[in-house]
Amino acid sequence: MPNILLIGNGAREHAIAEALMRSGHQPRLFSYMKSNNPGIASLSEKVATGSYNDMGAIQKFAGSCRSHFAIIGPEDPLNNGIVDMLKDSGIPAIGPTKSLARLETSKSFTRQLLEKYHIPGNPKFKNFSSLSDIESYISELQYSGNIVIKPDGLTGGKGVLVQGDHFHSKDDALRHCQDILKEHAHVIIEEKMEGEEFSLQCFCDGKTVAAAPPVQDHKRRFVDDKGPNTGGMGSYSYENHTLPFLKSQDVPDALAITQKVADAIYRETGNLYKGIMYGGFIAAREGVKLLEYNARLGDPEAMNILPLLKTDFVELCQAIIEGTLDRLKIIFDNKATVCKYVVPKGYGLPANHPEAGSASSRINIGNVGQARLYYASVDKRADGLYMSASRAVAAVGIAETISKAERIAEHAISAIQGAVDHRPDIGTKAAIEKRVEHMKQIRG
Ligand code: GLY
Repeated sequence: MPNILLIGNGAREHAIAEALMRSGHQPRLFSYMKSNNPGIASLSEKVATGSYNDMGAIQKFAGSCRSHFAIIGPEDPLNNGIVDMLKDSGIPAIGPTKSLARLETSKSFTRQLLEKYHIPGNPKFKNFSSLSDIESYISELQYSGNIVIKPDGLTGGKGVLVQGDHFHSKDDALRHCQDILKEHAHVIIEEKMEGEEFSLQCFCDGKTVAAAPPVQDHKRRFVDDKGPNTGGMGSYSYENHTLPFLKSQDVPDALAITQKVADAIYRETGNLYKGIMYGGFIAAREGVKLLEYNARLGDPEAMNILPLLKTDFVELCQAIIEGTLDRLKIIFDNKATVCKYVVPKGYGLPANHPEAGSASSRINIGNVGQARLYYASVDKRADGLYMSASRAVAAVGIAETISKAERIAEHAISAIQGAVDHRPDIGTKAAIEKRVEHMKQIRG
């Protein structure tokens, strides 16, 4: 009966809590959240709410729960050194130390690691700490195509600027770089890669890396990938554990890159990376390229893979901590999944839009049929559930085929009443065929 400390308050952590509570080891769950998530609370023996910056409060709560291990959902506490603090208190964690979390928090660390250890997957890139030389590098890259500008630090998934989407001219690019350098020590300029993106979420004990089925996320706010980038509006995965726009070698190549990166981290730092290595990859003309790593599960991608996990999740966590992942068989059900977020109508809109950031409003959830629901930013009050301005509830359909999974998710969303919105195109045949066609154009 292990006592497990869960950090995080979103739908991803609700899915983590559910996967832990399916364990045959009858864990006792203790959850520390920034704001109360009623889904996580209903699965927890005890909860505390507080800031992810407040290491003292987290340490006190972890100690009072006599936690055997902790699992860290979001990136902010990793960046704040929560794993180092827990380690000092004798509590091992699923999640890297602050230094190893640079895999996510410092884009330049990761790019330079790949370069130094000759790991494939990097685009052409350069790291700058001042504006001088940026102009000539932009010109150099623009001879062959467009560029991408990345701040070197955490930006909540919304800091990457892509030529053609977020800016058009070299002058605009330079202005953005100047702004970024006011807030971040470095800015990275990369060549823009054309292709289809996929997420490969891997478990790592420092030596062995094991992958979950690949998932495709949809970051844009509106149908047909229009509108601003969001935290992610929904995602899907296939029953055969690949995606229809990928070649058979793409996922093994992405896994091989991730294994080499785990080895390189050990060689570079002398420390074993224990936690999640979630690679954002792009299938490009010349093969698989790395966009970025995250040091945590994806949100929404966690909701695609954790419900499929047949291996006991507590045993999986223990294998990560003990360094015995090579001896564990990790099995995912051969089912398709479609996850769609229900969001407030104003979600993701610019601040000057009349519907942006609308005040909290009530939602009513009727009969959602076979779908699984994961709560995100919702508050349970005496008279019902209230949304904030962020993503509210994730509806997940799981079935033998993607079309059935999509219908299950849609049916659930039709049972959720309120001032809500979602992306009906996610997981549909038409949307997926567009991606297959896109890759045909790129790879022939
Ligand atoms: N799916 C985007 C993220 O988790 O960062």
